[in-house]
Amino acid sequence: MGKDKKVECLGVLTSGGDCPALNATIRAVVKAATGAFGIDCVGILDGFSGLVENRTRSLSLSDASGLLTMGGTILGTSREKPQKFPVGKEILDMTQVAVDHYNELHLDGLVCLGGGGTQKNAYHLMTEGGLNVITLPKTIDNDVWGTDVTFGFDTAMTIAAEAIDRLHTTAESHHRVMAVEIMGHNAGWLTLAAGVAGGADVILIPEIPYSIEKVADAIIDRNRQGKRFSIVAVAEGVMTKEEAKEAAKEAKKGKKNKKGDDEEAEGWQEPKSIRLARQLQELTGLETRVTALGHLQRGGVPTPADRLLASRLGTRAAELASKGEFGVMVAARGEDCVPVPLEEVAGKKKVVPPDHPLVKTARLVGVCMGD
Ligand code: F6P
Repeated sequence: MGKDKKVECLGVLTSGGDCPALNATIRAVVKAATGAFGIDCVGILDGFSGLVENRTRSLSLSDASGLLTMGGTILGTSREKPQKFPVGKEILDMTQVAVDHYNELHLDGLVCLGGGGTQKNAYHLMTEGGLNVITLPKTIDNDVWGTDVTFGFDTAMTIAAEAIDRLHTTAESHHRVMAVEIMGHNAGWLTLAAGVAGGADVILIPEIPYSIEKVADAIIDRNRQGKRFSIVAVAEGVMTKEEAKEAAKEAKKGKKNKKGDDEEAEGWQEPKSIRLARQLQELTGLETRVTALGHLQRGGVPTPADRLLASRLGTRAAELASKGEFGVMVAARGEDCVPVPLEEVAGKKKVVPPDHPLVKTARLVGVCMGD
């Protein structure tokens, strides 16, 4: 769309796994778009499904009230993508149907709140469907490329750190090893940050493959020093050194890692934390328990830091849309919120560099990283 055409109506959708501060971000988009720039907003229900199936709801200024502290998303969400959409028993490319509905709704732009998969889907609608899209980086995993941080991360990290605090007292009382499984898909940001903040003794993240013997030795060492309990913060996507070698071989062969797309959730799998706990109990002789935090990390009231980030990103998205600046993701960079071309973001993932300063900090306070 040319920058000269006045933007009058924006569709807003939330896609991928939900996270805290989605509603706070919707609020910021609508309050700024409608309240400050005079642009109407329409809520698209359940992510890209709502666009394909033409399911919408009103998103007026009054609808945007009371959302700042509310968990979840009033728009509903899903991991569906227009280009591979389930219709009956078939998977069809419904891109054109989504485009038709966008036109029927008289939208001048589509604001998509989502993680890595959403960036890709929005980019697809832009390049293949010619839609005006603008995206915002959402996910507890903090793995969206191009932004310092995603909204939802701070809340999930706070929940996980508080869980570690609580596990400390019971671990100490029972002289146990406590493995706490933390979400994050294939990225270790959440486990690393919560682990350091919560004072975990061992932190295992996907980016640093671990050796079970090294972890067991660290726990036995602690025991010898009279510290008769240990907290192991383990990311759901961790890999042993052997698994990492295998994965690297597969990647070389060109096999796509199915978990590389955050909108392609798989069915239930035995958590690696359970295997880890069993092996640690065998190797250390210490009683070991597992706590999987799971979706608790995605629920409830967002922290003030996430509300601030949501408000900054959401209002900036509305401002950019009002000027007709589409085809970008609004990224948090220092104190600013800047537009980053979607083509730079789509298909990339931000993982923890093994030499990241927080990894160094963890090591310097004596945390075993498993390597
Ligand atoms: O991407 C967010 C996330 O919570 C990941 O941390 C986790 O791997 C995944 O979603 C879980 O997905 P689902 O809600 O489909 O179980």
